[in-house]
Amino acid sequence: MKTFNPFLLFIFFLVLTSCQQQESENNQKGVISDSAMVVSAHPLASQVGIEILKKGGNAIDAAIAVQFALAVTHPSAGNIGGGGFMVIRLADGQLNSLDFREAAPKASHRDMYLDETGEVIENLSTLGHLASGVPGTVDGMVNAHNKYGQLAWEEIVQPAVELALNGFTLTKKEASGLVSNQENFQTLNTQAPEFLLGNWKEGDTIKYIDLGHALERIRDHKRAGFYEGKTADDIVAEMQRGNGIISYEDLQEYQSEWRKPLEDYYKGYKIISMPPPSSGGVALIQLLKIVEGFPIHKWGWNQKETIHVMVEAERRVYADRASYLGDPDFIKVPVKELTDEGYLTERMSNFNLTQATPSDSVSAGIFNLYESMETTHFSVVDKFGNAVAVTTTLNGGYGSKVVVSGSGFILNNEMDDFSIKPGYPNMFGLIGGEANAIQPQKRMLSSMTPTIIEKDRKLYMVVGTPGGATIITSVYQVILNVIEHKMTMHEAVNAKRFHSQWKPDIISIENSAIDSVTLEKLTEMGHTISTRGSIGRVDAILVLENNKLEGGADLRGDDTAIGY
Ligand code: GLY
Repeated sequence: MKTFNPFLLFIFFLVLTSCQQQESENNQKGVISDSAMVVSAHPLASQVGIEILKKGGNAIDAAIAVQFALAVTHPSAGNIGGGGFMVIRLADGQLNSLDFREAAPKASHRDMYLDETGEVIENLSTLGHLASGVPGTVDGMVNAHNKYGQLAWEEIVQPAVELALNGFTLTKKEASGLVSNQENFQTLNTQAPEFLLGNWKEGDTIKYIDLGHALERIRDHKRAGFYEGKTADDIVAEMQRGNGIISYEDLQEYQSEWRKPLEDYYKGYKIISMPPPSSGGVALIQLLKIVEGFPIHKWGWNQKETIHVMVEAERRVYADRASYLGDPDFIKVPVKELTDEGYLTERMSNFNLTQATPSDSVSAGIFNLYESMETTHFSVVDKFGNAVAVTTTLNGGYGSKVVVSGSGFILNNEMDDFSIKPGYPNMFGLIGGEANAIQPQKRMLSSMTPTIIEKDRKLYMVVGTPGGATIITSVYQVILNVIEHKMTMHEAVNAKRFHSQWKPDIISIENSAIDSVTLEKLTEMGHTISTRGSIGRVDAILVLENNKLEGGADLRGDDTAIGY
């Protein structure tokens, strides 16, 4: 299973060393490049993206190649068994966004995770076969390529095929992710996924042979290579063995959707982000517009007033999210009303600059403070000036932990992003209601916030992150770090973060995100503060005044910026 491949190890260290050198040469700046940049969660995926750009591919080609490469190198979140969102800004200013979010299977129903007394059956929406929505990634990538691709499809998919079949060396973080999921892989699968099992260590070579062949089928037959033929047979057989409900019909009928991106302004910067079924764009715009009138720059980074006003905004915005947001193909989402300035001013009318507003008690549900990092985001800018922001996910780390036997890929546990019972918190502690109830073929609400920003009608920033509910607040902080606190992209991405979301009524902070005096003052104002592990893994690109690109890769992970 684990064979040492000195050549791959050499390439891996070459990539890593070159990135680290650029990092230290640039001190507090990220990687600086003249023409093009890829920032993703894995050095080999960033390398695949940059090679596609060097061959003359555009940012969309590179994004597709990175998506498939991450499915191999970063299987806890990179995927072909999940879904995501892509925001595009072409060099001429045209905008678009692609929804390749998973959909509920046709046999799903609103109470499918409840027992006969109406209580939630523990883990049913998060672990195992019933937790998976119909995967959207492959249809999304084909759709993106059909509309914007420049290089041949085969050429774009091939690097992922080679990574899977030839193998590559594991980073410390990837090895430890696999090790900590050994029991899940063994107990939640109907046929043991031998290729994942082992006491993995940094530097071990791992190969994904079945996944490599599944990627070859996608390379050769595009959509039909996944939603039909052997892969579809393997998915349906897997479902039948494990009492899941995804059918041939579900696979055949799945379609990714082009949607009009949200566009709004923060102090003259145009914010372009993902519309529903992600809540990310709506919430980000609400948050930015609420704080627009406050002197954030004067107050300073992570100072008492800055944090207080941001948290009070978050409290109200996440309460809106719980009531109003869902799949726009099934419910009317009042986007215009939610982002209206008059509405947002009214929303803050009971805001008190010296006192926290207690969040209303809605549910007695137990909140789990664990925030999975296992969504992943990548940002790409090409030499033509096209920009792409993609956030993609299996939901939890390694999704449902179910490997499709024979095709070697992991299925998502995205059904948990639905409101499985009104007021019952999902794995991110998010509460929902009717708007996000389960219905056949409906998309579950997301927090993913792939975002592009323009300044003076020119490309300015490409940004996004994993982190479940914390995605929105992480993107929010990184944008304010650059615009208000004048940080470089590298500094903005790596600055410590905090998060709050209405329920639970708590501000969670990364260690040392807030100094002790400010912490004391916030507590006196009525805020409850709790320290937690890292928040988000932001990968972003900033266009500098001299038109060079600064890639900011998050030091919280293996994230890597490569440019040329
Ligand atoms: N699965 C995390 C999200 O979509 O927000």
